[in-house]
Amino acid sequence: MTEFDTPQPNIARIYDYLLGGKDNYAPDREVGSRIEQALPAVHLGVRQQRAVLRRVVRHLVAEAGLRQLIDIGSGLPTADNVHQIAQQIEPDTRVVYVDNDPVVLSHARALLADRKETVVAVGDLRDPAAILADPLLREHIDFDQPVGLLLCGILHYVLDEEQPALIVKQLVDALPSGSYVFIHHLITPGDSADEGTTAAEAALRQGVGRGQFRSLAEVAAFLDGLELLEPGVVTVTEWRPDADTPAVTEHPVLRLAAVGVARKP
Ligand SMILES: C[S@@+](CC[C@H](N)C(=O)[O-])C[C@H]1O[C@@H](n2cnc3c(N)ncnc32)[C@H](O)[C@@H]1O
Repeated sequence: MTEFDTPQPNIARIYDYLLGGKDNYAPDREVGSRIEQALPAVHLGVRQQRAVLRRVVRHLVAEAGLRQLIDIGSGLPTADNVHQIAQQIEPDTRVVYVDNDPVVLSHARALLADRKETVVAVGDLRDPAAILADPLLREHIDFDQPVGLLLCGILHYVLDEEQPALIVKQLVDALPSGSYVFIHHLITPGDSADEGTTAAEAALRQGVGRGQFRSLAEVAAFLDGLELLEPGVVTVTEWRPDADTPAVTEHPVLRLAAVGVARKP
């Protein structure tokens, strides 16, 4: 039996299910349903995760002028993928997708077969040195020019004992001055809004063996030493909302994820 036909619940496919995609199997949907029971508004949360990723990528390419992005934990292809957003603004923008899931890698390679600006590398966030040494990534990214590092919806799958802060530091240390880091992370807001958080975290842990929500302060600490862009580390829809971005005050589920973007001085 290969990794492709073993129907174990899988992070990328559970997320695809929650986004309304079709690249998922019964075990993924079972974990997804448990998350839906714990957090009935989770679909709004995952859609807003994609929406803030779009806003950040637009900012990094259109405003900050970046022409190369590394997206670690890229996930299954969906609507408005990072390379599509970036290359709509500047077609030459180079994008390296990195994921440790063979299913994700095979879908992404199929999608990108004919695109030279965008490549897909196998890599595990918990081994940043190996990601940085990947020959495809090194061929594609010029480490003398600023890079946008995207860590969207992935650091909460790195447990405390795996030293996520050290991992972020090792990656940032490899980037030149003028680079940017984006983090999206599931959080425990620590008030009445977190009723479903513990159950959702438990469903993730039970289903895929990992999942660790952190506090807003812990997420902010990942960006220590960098220049935090306005409005700082905030809930997802508070980060430079568009006219159609829903208000966090009206949707408690939106308090369960924080984002921040910072520049390396
Ligand atoms: C929830 S999806 C997020 C997808 C996309 N970044 C987004 O925010 O819409 C998380 C992705 O991270 C990947 N992932 C989880 N742990 C990882 C690790 N240690 N190294 C590399 N990828 C990982 C999963 O395979 C999955 O594709």
